[in-house]
Amino acid sequence: MQIAMTIAEIRAYVAQARGAGKTVGFVPTMGALHAGHASLIEAAAGRCGYVVVSIFVNPTQFGPGEDFEKYPRPFEKDVELCERYGAQAIFAPNPAEMYPRENLTWVTVEKLTEPLCGQSRPGHFRGVTTVCTKLFNIVGADVAFFGQKDAQQAIVIRRMAADLNMPLEIVVCPTVREPDGLAMSSRNRYLSPQERSQAPVIYRALQRCAERIGAGEKNAARIVEEMNRVFEQAPVLRVEYVSIVDAESLQECDQVSGKVLVAIAGRLGSTRLIDNIMVDTTAR
Ligand code: PAJ
Repeated sequence: MQIAMTIAEIRAYVAQARGAGKTVGFVPTMGALHAGHASLIEAAAGRCGYVVVSIFVNPTQFGPGEDFEKYPRPFEKDVELCERYGAQAIFAPNPAEMYPRENLTWVTVEKLTEPLCGQSRPGHFRGVTTVCTKLFNIVGADVAFFGQKDAQQAIVIRRMAADLNMPLEIVVCPTVREPDGLAMSSRNRYLSPQERSQAPVIYRALQRCAERIGAGEKNAARIVEEMNRVFEQAPVLRVEYVSIVDAESLQECDQVSGKVLVAIAGRLGSTRLIDNIMVDTTAR
């Protein structure tokens, strides 16, 4: 495993791999890796001869009062997981390497960053798109892998890469879940036993939505009402949003048609969890 803490080191490693004729895959992460991240590394290793995983808890995407300081950083375990799933290199810069001076240049994607998580996390997507642009420029990969778990992030990144003619392909991989349906997340470890036991209700509500759409229900408000009934099973969950939006524009739908993204965000205690499913009403 090649471990690079500096930009110069990772660029040298990637140049060497390219010199050997390898396709370069890239999996950006904030560490505290789990089976969701592992699936992205596996997908990358299946397609690319040289896979770089970045581990960087990016300060610019956290708002004041969010969990930047307490975000878990189990570096050694992360290295093991990267190795096990087929990565060749880890890029783990410290904040000063990534942001050596006051950052004056930001990448912003309009419109798509306004609804859903954009509402409660102002500045979050600006931090994500800026750090991903920096990481893409540093690593110089052919393909970058993102998870459907963060659906809005994946849509925003894909649009950014297209709008700015970034010379890499964006691949989005399916959400990996616990056996009870809870989407894997680095933040699940914050949950108390009681919160953890109620957390799968988020996925149950998404499934209820898919069932209603499958049964022919088109009225989004009625579907959301049904989902809210599922949340009654989890009194400790404080729902932040339940939205049915067009999968491309992320605009709220009154009537479900075409491809829709059904997304939920909620808090269990101080832990904020998100999940989503895509439903394609034309695919049946
Ligand atoms: P992080 O939350 O560490 O996630 C890294 C990647 O793993 C993201 O593409 C995310 O969607 C994916 N992922 C997380 N949980 C998943 C799951 N259960 N199934 C499938 N994929 C999953 O997302 C970030 O970091 C940051 O915003 C980053 C893109 C690295 C920029 O800082």
